Amino acid sequence: MSGEQSHAPDEHYNRITEAWGLLLGENLHYGVFRGVSDLPAATEQLTRLMVEGARLEPGLTVLDVGCGTGAPAVALALDCGVEVTGITTSAEGIEAARARAEAAGVAGQTRFEQRDGMDNGFADESFDRAWVLESSHLMRRRDRLIAECARVLRPGGRIALCDIILRRPLGLADVRRMRESLVLLRDVFGDARMEPLTEYERLMTECGLVVDELTDLTADTRPTFGAWRDTAERNRDEVVAMIGEADWRKFLDSCDVLEGFWDDGTLGYGLVAAGKP
Ligand SMILES: C[S@@+](CC[C@H](N)C(=O)[O-])C[C@H]1O[C@@H](n2cnc3c(N)ncnc32)[C@H](O)[C@@H]1O
Repeated sequence: MSGEQSHAPDEHYNRITEAWGLLLGENLHYGVFRGVSDLPAATEQLTRLMVEGARLEPGLTVLDVGCGTGAPAVALALDCGVEVTGITTSAEGIEAARARAEAAGVAGQTRFEQRDGMDNGFADESFDRAWVLESSHLMRRRDRLIAECARVLRPGGRIALCDIILRRPLGLADVRRMRESLVLLRDVFGDARMEPLTEYERLMTECGLVVDELTDLTADTRPTFGAWRDTAERNRDEVVAMIGEADWRKFLDSCDVLEGFWDDGTLGYGLVAAGKP
């Protein structure tokens, strides 16, 4: 899926973006199943935890790094009254996000641009908040991502970031043993690299940010895989028509692999928030 994405023509890109919506839901991120049992409510709950971490207030400007198809950005504009600039490297994501904002009546409060989170090109101190929801694992130079976020924040600004995290060190023997599973995950979700939550803390501190929240959400996000499997089964025919039976099956298999990594303590989920003095 993501593996194909990087080489495929435009039409194929669009089909894949649509398929993700049918597999993961409108929000292209994990859910936090605390007192809720359905995926849409759980993904919104993760967004809410990020809103708390970022301490959003009406009128603030937010840089959403890796904005997907704009669901979180539109929700922030509607629910928090902030102005959001969403960036992603995906042209289809930008198109979908603009259409979503237009349909929700928040086109004036949002803008979406194709930019790289590791070299965003915005002026120093031009945003009140940096928002990085589950996109950092796709950015190899994590140090540059964090440095760029710190650079564009105004003094008094904040960053909130959540993502899949590494929960134990992996040796060469581990990686060899897991090779097949890791290849499957790369095929389905793209070329990802996970770091421990404390690595984000270290990188932020190095950039002069003051970390005041580090939350492990591994247990709360664990039901996400069952929910994704249900969604994939429910939308099977439509998804297979878009991406084929083999990729649909790979998605289901990848849910099992991730669930196994959650259960054996290899991977998990975390949230980190920090302020810029
Ligand atoms: C798992 S999606 C999360 C989307 C969105 N934050 C959400 O929660 O719905 C990851 C996003 O990161 C974007 N992305 C990947 N690499 C990027 C980069 N170097 N710079 C900016 N965005 C990037 C992808 O295009 C995608 O939009």
